Amino acid sequence: MADGYHGSGGQSLVRSATSTADTATPIGEAPAFREMLAHISLAAPLNRPVLVIGERGTGKELVASRLAYLSQRWDRPFIKLNCAVLSEALLDSELFGHEAGAFTGAARRRPGRFELADGGTLFLDEIATASMAVQEKLLRVIEYGTFERVGGNEPQQVDVRVVAATHADLPALVRADRFRADLLDRLAFDVVAVPPLRARPEDIPLLAGHFALRMTRELGRELFAGFAPEAMAVLKAHDWPGNVRELRNAVERSVYRMEHVQKPLARIVLDPFPAMAPRPVTVTLAAGAPVASPTPQAAPPASAEPEAGDFAARTRQFEARLLREAMEASRYNQRTAARRLGLTYYQLRHYLKVHELLGQKPDAEAPAAPSALDQAVTPGAAPAPASRRSPLGTAA
Ligand SMILES: Nc1ncnc2c1ncn2[C@@H]1O[C@H](COP(=O)(O)OP(=O)(O)OP(=O)(O)O)[C@@H](O)[C@H]1O
Ligand SMILES: [Mg+2]
Repeated sequence: MADGYHGSGGQSLVRSATSTADTATPIGEAPAFREMLAHISLAAPLNRPVLVIGERGTGKELVASRLAYLSQRWDRPFIKLNCAVLSEALLDSELFGHEAGAFTGAARRRPGRFELADGGTLFLDEIATASMAVQEKLLRVIEYGTFERVGGNEPQQVDVRVVAATHADLPALVRADRFRADLLDRLAFDVVAVPPLRARPEDIPLLAGHFALRMTRELGRELFAGFAPEAMAVLKAHDWPGNVRELRNAVERSVYRMEHVQKPLARIVLDPFPAMAPRPVTVTLAAGAPVASPTPQAAPPASAEPEAGDFAARTRQFEARLLREAMEASRYNQRTAARRLGLTYYQLRHYLKVHELLGQKPDAEAPAAPSALDQAVTPGAAPAPASRRSPLGTAA
């Protein structure tokens, strides 16, 4: 294992890791994102470590690359290493290199990433996974620029700027004695926090358009006719736990699966897996009692409903129903409705806007529409009189 890794394959792995910083400009115009870009511009020229934090798929690697590109080291090596993919011993020799004969299979001396990055920037991804022993060596090289290769005792001197990234809570790991406080202090000279996509929903159309055009070009198509309103509504309503990476994948997949490439894209394929068994969806009521709600597929058929196979449109319709019902049940008080749905006030406002339900007022004259959940939770049950019928299936 170690032998094969450090053989000829290992050499090519190091060569392929040597590059200059990505010149791609991160896309986004939302205030939270602009603030982060300004922070990057401020931190980039300083010869100090930077810690980049954020959820998975938010663009931490892109940010690290931007920090290198905007620094005075922009034309020097930009070397990356993901600390999570290597065992402790391999990480040690990958970072600091090894002398010939340091271990079985180490026939020749091999430079580590710090030597390769000399004069440039080293991006250490998933830094929280580095062992305590590696952390100790990292602290020393960051502090004094010196280290020893594995199997060697001659100090090596390098000039490397370290940018580290993590989605872990490093201060909590320090408290749990799993991360060195002194290394965190050093790395966190400046901390750039990359906002999750749900904190910048304004950027969804921009990013989606960018990824769609890129995919259109990759597929050799001449034209992308844009997103149909229903597709854009799905993109805006999703909360993107996988952030920009998830959005990129969903958009690329949807563009690739378009049936009529001349027409606007109408169907967003969020989930590429064919439906095997319906997944239970749980709605938590204000009272705290979770109610297993039907999947969108279980909603009773009605003439106005979209075609059975139109997952996106049916999901949208189901969402709109949940919103309307929660608003009715809360007498159009948005904070109460948000609580009922387990959303924050701002998330509720966002969904109401997407579904064009903002500013909706109680319609005293019109009889309340039958609740989809009433019908769906107890299929076939006779609807209760309007006065006693309660949205979300709870006693009013
Ligand atoms: N603002 C942005 N503009 C354009 N593309 C972006 C942006 N943010 C992220 N991406 C793209 O999204 C994908 C994920 O970004 P990246 O790998 O930098 O995320 P990450 O935070 O490092 O994720 P992980 O924690 O999973 O390693 C990449 O393809 C990247 O190019
Ligand atoms: Mg990453």
